[in-house]
Amino acid sequence: MNAETDPQGSYWLDTAPPGAPAPPPTGDLTVDVAVIGGGIAGLSTAWELARQGREVAVLEAGRLAAGVTGHTTAKLTALHTLIYDRLRRTRGPEGARLYARSQDSAIRHAADVVAELGIECEWEEAAAYTYAEDPGRVAELRAEADAAREAGLPAEFVTETGLPFPVAGAVRVSGQAQFHPRKYLLALADDLVRRGASVHEGTRVVDLTEGEPCVLRTEAGGSVRAREVVIATHYPVFDRALLFARLSPRRELVVAGAVDAEAAPRDMYITPDRNTRSIRSAPLADGRRLLIVTGEHFTPGTADTEERFARLAHWAESRFPGVTLTHRWATQDNDSTDSVPLVGPFRPGGRHTYVATGFGGWGLSGGIMAGRLISDLLAGREVEWSGLYDPRRVGTVVREAGAFLKHQAQVTRHFVGDRISPLTGPGIEDIAPGEGAVVRVGASHCAVHRDADGQLHSVSARCTHLGCLVAFNKAEQAWECPCHGSRFGVDGRVLQGPAVRPLPKREP
Ligand SMILES: Cc1cc2nc3c(=O)[nH]c(=O)nc-3n(C[C@H](O)[C@H](O)[C@H](O)COP(=O)(O)OP(=O)(O)OC[C@H]3O[C@@H](n4cnc5c(N)ncnc54)[C@H](O)[C@@H]3O)c2cc1C
Ligand code: FES
Repeated sequence: MNAETDPQGSYWLDTAPPGAPAPPPTGDLTVDVAVIGGGIAGLSTAWELARQGREVAVLEAGRLAAGVTGHTTAKLTALHTLIYDRLRRTRGPEGARLYARSQDSAIRHAADVVAELGIECEWEEAAAYTYAEDPGRVAELRAEADAAREAGLPAEFVTETGLPFPVAGAVRVSGQAQFHPRKYLLALADDLVRRGASVHEGTRVVDLTEGEPCVLRTEAGGSVRAREVVIATHYPVFDRALLFARLSPRRELVVAGAVDAEAAPRDMYITPDRNTRSIRSAPLADGRRLLIVTGEHFTPGTADTEERFARLAHWAESRFPGVTLTHRWATQDNDSTDSVPLVGPFRPGGRHTYVATGFGGWGLSGGIMAGRLISDLLAGREVEWSGLYDPRRVGTVVREAGAFLKHQAQVTRHFVGDRISPLTGPGIEDIAPGEGAVVRVGASHCAVHRDADGQLHSVSARCTHLGCLVAFNKAEQAWECPCHGSRFGVDGRVLQGPAVRPLPKREP
């Protein structure tokens, strides 16, 4: 998500704003490895590769660490809500163990990097809890505590959490961490450059030709040649492996505000109840702490975001009386159909392209893990969990079938339904200032927005990824595609992929 579209903005961007942009490459560039995307997955991968002495270029469409990573909750934990009992059943006890070990070692590695580079990123050790208020979920929590412990984490079932309200039960894992993700990543990017890598912002990659070398084309018309390419664009662009059939986007809201230190939660919490509530706090300069609450997830383009922001704010204010909410923002992550990220070779038979995606709301430990995994694979090193995350995995296809079919049914409904259903909605004259609507003009659909001054802006309503119809998100003043989560500004420019091309202008 683009910071410019935030109604009030991400706290992480507010407190570590981008400096002067790193310029796009001039002319044609040739490197050993090109990393597309400068979020936590891309920067972690590039840093690991640069440390190995590889010649790396990072190509970022916008600003570094300002996409999903700049809008996260920033917990670093291997306790991913309720994953271990599920993994134990779907991937076996060894799969659950590998998942726990890979995520946990990513967190330990990040702690080492922070110490090695002396990064001031508000790093704090904290416990992570998955809790439920609903007594009907206690059995589920007990099973999760048991599975997480069996997977090797210091997990236990508890009923006391330190939250200012009672819970029916919780899984507690000690020795986890929380940090300021931009402060961490901007320091990593500086070190990357010191190690000889080149970093380019404002550089959207719009085409990839795989070969020896691979050739990337940028929106500005330049080309980058690289022996290997890592696609770390969150939702993968150039999806020849059709991974989008196995990924579904989930948008979530965040509210934050100062509380007195003694009223602030010191540990990190998440509950699957009430459409998810994820809680942590961060230190403020005046000695108070910033309460951060995340929740209210939905498929992009399908919800009244304003109403959901109000619901989340009300919940935060009623559970933490005394909080003054000052920030709100939104962002989205992709769920994979088997709940395990897709990290590794991009497609069967492809020898020079790698991908990191499908983090399911846990891409901070996941992104750091991905950086180490991909850099090890590129160096030809064996990694015990490479099979668990391999995007080409087929063993889980049958087990994935239910989630796969459900997601495809939703996409098909939009894809086909958008084409055959008559569009009944407001006419252009009914669109109030600040509103937007898809209107039919002759045989085509226009996405029409009226700005605060009454000026109309009209672009094609067909998403440039695969052609589903976009919908207006009033709270964030953006067009969103429900099929795979592409997002566009009211002027049609791409805010978030997998689309790489803007919505073309249309006469309303
Ligand atoms: C509300 C919310 C809270 C979360 N909280 C947590 C948490 O507490 N802990 C946790 O572990 N995870 C959390 N996550 C998940 C985590 O934030 C994400 O999984 C992670 O940030 C994804 O990182 P990324 O590098 O894949 O994506 P991004 O950070 O989005 O980076 C991808 C980059 O690629 C760039 N890009 C896209 N297309 C192109 C192109 N064509 N050319 C060049 N560049 C391109 C984008 O501009 C972007 O900067 C949360 C997610 C959400 C939605
Ligand atoms: S994001 Fe795929 S069709 Fe829009």
